[in-house]
Amino acid sequence: MKAKDIVIPEQDPFFYVESDTLRVLERVEKISKKHPVNVLISGRQGCGKSSIVRQFAAVFNRPLATFQIGILSEPGQLYGEHVLKDGETSYRPYLFPEAIQTPNCVIHLEEINRPEHPKALNMLFSLLAEDRQVWMDELGLLNVAEGVVFFATMNEGEEYIGTESMDPALRDRFYTVLMDYIPRDVEAEVLAKKTGISRATAQEIIGIINRLRDHSDSPIDVSTRTSLMIAEMVAFGASVREAIIYSLQINKEHLESILLTLHLEKGAVDVQNANKYLLFVKPNE
Ligand SMILES: Nc1ncnc2c1ncn2[C@@H]1O[C@H](COP(=O)(O)OP(=O)(O)O)[C@@H](O)[C@H]1O
Ligand SMILES: [Mg+2]
Repeated sequence: MKAKDIVIPEQDPFFYVESDTLRVLERVEKISKKHPVNVLISGRQGCGKSSIVRQFAAVFNRPLATFQIGILSEPGQLYGEHVLKDGETSYRPYLFPEAIQTPNCVIHLEEINRPEHPKALNMLFSLLAEDRQVWMDELGLLNVAEGVVFFATMNEGEEYIGTESMDPALRDRFYTVLMDYIPRDVEAEVLAKKTGISRATAQEIIGIINRLRDHSDSPIDVSTRTSLMIAEMVAFGASVREAIIYSLQINKEHLESILLTLHLEKGAVDVQNANKYLLFVKPNE
């Protein structure tokens, strides 16, 4: 990968954040003009963590580079690899060294709390600490460029509460933003604006999703990502019921029984119809 991969992302015209969060991000932007800064975003999956990082880059006209920390199994792995060519080994740097040396770059470290190997983070520590540099035998001394902002995100599941699962020495170096799903009225707004469905349909979808979320016997966790998927299906002609069935990763019978208890009207396409076999071919030419 080359520098051309580090670009300023397009902004999402319909991205909503809490006003407190927005203020923090504006301050981070200012602090970063003095020295590089680290922000940890934590929250459940699909609540908008990756989007907020991307949006930060877009809004402040900064290039964005994203790295999966969750898949790292050794310390040097972000930086590059030794390659064998014509019987000689040489070192091929990856995008990461490039990114940290790109002024004002937003560097997104995804799933920082879940590297496959605990030592994998070792070569990140000093970049995030005050010295902001790392020594590598292969590349020499790497300094973090001016204005760089590191965003780490972590998926907070039931097994993790807050930032507890993270090494305290690492956690210490970050401003922390805890995100939650957007409020339900804002969510309906987002669905309508992003998928083009009517406000009324968006409200209907959110109404049903909320009953699933709040179901007393078996509540179902439906993320913003999933509700968007549902709305998108509806925008392309699916009934709400159908869209829900194909967007939620739960057993169909289980969902059916919950929907039944909600007395949800069967949509235009009921189960019988959905079970018919149709040709899967190109449309008429
Ligand atoms: N506050 C928000 N405003 C608008 N869209 C949102 C918001 N939060 C999440 N989304 C949408 O939900 C989807 C999932 O968000 P994402 O950032 O991928 O979640 P995460 O990284 O937390 O798993 C994206 O399509 C995103 O645009
Ligand atoms: Mg994400």
